Amino acid sequence: MVPVILDNLTTGRVEFVRDRIFYQGDIADGALLDKIFAEHPDIDAVVHAAAAIVVPESMEQPLKYYRENVAKSVEFVDHVLRNGCSRYLFSSSASIYRPGDDHSVDESSELEPQSPYARTKVIMEQMLADCARAYDLRVLSLRYFNPVGADPKMRTGLQVRYPTHLLGKLVTAVEEDEEFLLTGVDWPTRDGSAIRDFIHVWDLAEAHVRALRRFDEILPRAGDRPYEVINLGTGSGTTVREFVTAFQAVSDKPLRVRETGPRPGDTVGCYTRTERAREMLGWTARFTLEDAIRHSLQWSPVRDALLR
Ligand SMILES: NC(=O)c1ccc[n+]([C@@H]2O[C@H](COP(=O)([O-])OP(=O)(O)OC[C@H]3O[C@@H](n4cnc5c(N)ncnc54)[C@H](O)[C@@H]3O)[C@@H](O)[C@H]2O)c1
Repeated sequence: MVPVILDNLTTGRVEFVRDRIFYQGDIADGALLDKIFAEHPDIDAVVHAAAAIVVPESMEQPLKYYRENVAKSVEFVDHVLRNGCSRYLFSSSASIYRPGDDHSVDESSELEPQSPYARTKVIMEQMLADCARAYDLRVLSLRYFNPVGADPKMRTGLQVRYPTHLLGKLVTAVEEDEEFLLTGVDWPTRDGSAIRDFIHVWDLAEAHVRALRRFDEILPRAGDRPYEVINLGTGSGTTVREFVTAFQAVSDKPLRVRETGPRPGDTVGCYTRTERAREMLGWTARFTLEDAIRHSLQWSPVRDALLR
């Protein structure tokens, strides 16, 4: 399986694609998409991961999110269909779920997106399901829980110097000797902090490879179900406090923690039941939380050397 990568490099970095087939440009650029398909007629599936992804920013700039994640995606689907590609993997998100009383969800749980970012994912899922019913298109929507970690071989990892998510902020706090703000301590969980299902990025990547390999089994060409959703998580919930404790056990540097209120768009969170991923993909997560923390800490100086 050889990926052909399209990225406009708004947040992506060219250093990661130097040894790859790479086109710089926008998913909405029809002429570019036609050129890519013409130069690679053997493309037999698309993986649509491009999106703007920062929840608090989506509260401040919703139009950016509806433009980047919805309007441009409508164009992209059209370009994909015009070029005759009928297998479509979409990066969706656990942030669309309404958490249940025990904070666990599965693919049939109710949706209640809490931010413009999450709403763009729901709109996209609905749009893709409609397109799958109407056109020669089969869509697998993969709802990621909370990605953490880096490539265990340290070839790629988080590109952002000051990430906005939990593990990134912890790494920044110990590296820059800053206070770590534990945001949200009054949620209805076992210790008051939010709960998440932290999934190692390498496990996520493997799930995508499985999904591509099994695509036609999961969504047969002549089948009556052209659209499917699969949650990708570990199956167990970790609270933010538990995560901070795990981080302190792996990191040898001191951490100063200050508790504060939730950020705009924050939710109590949830973790997933994993039966469907196991059955359909033959996949379960292998890496531990400690692996992910260790890999992120190892990645940080590698990133600084690689991405100047
Ligand atoms: N990181 C998470 O916590 C998380 C959780 C659930 C789902 N997801 C989804 O996974 C996908 C990948 O997220 P990520 O964390 O790797 O973020 P990221 O910002 O690292 O990756 C997004 C990539 O898309 C590119 N891009 C954005 N808009 C584009 C456009 N219009 N045309 C071409 N390229 C464009 C960016 O340059 C970047 O390389 C997104 O769809 C995101 O919503 C992420």
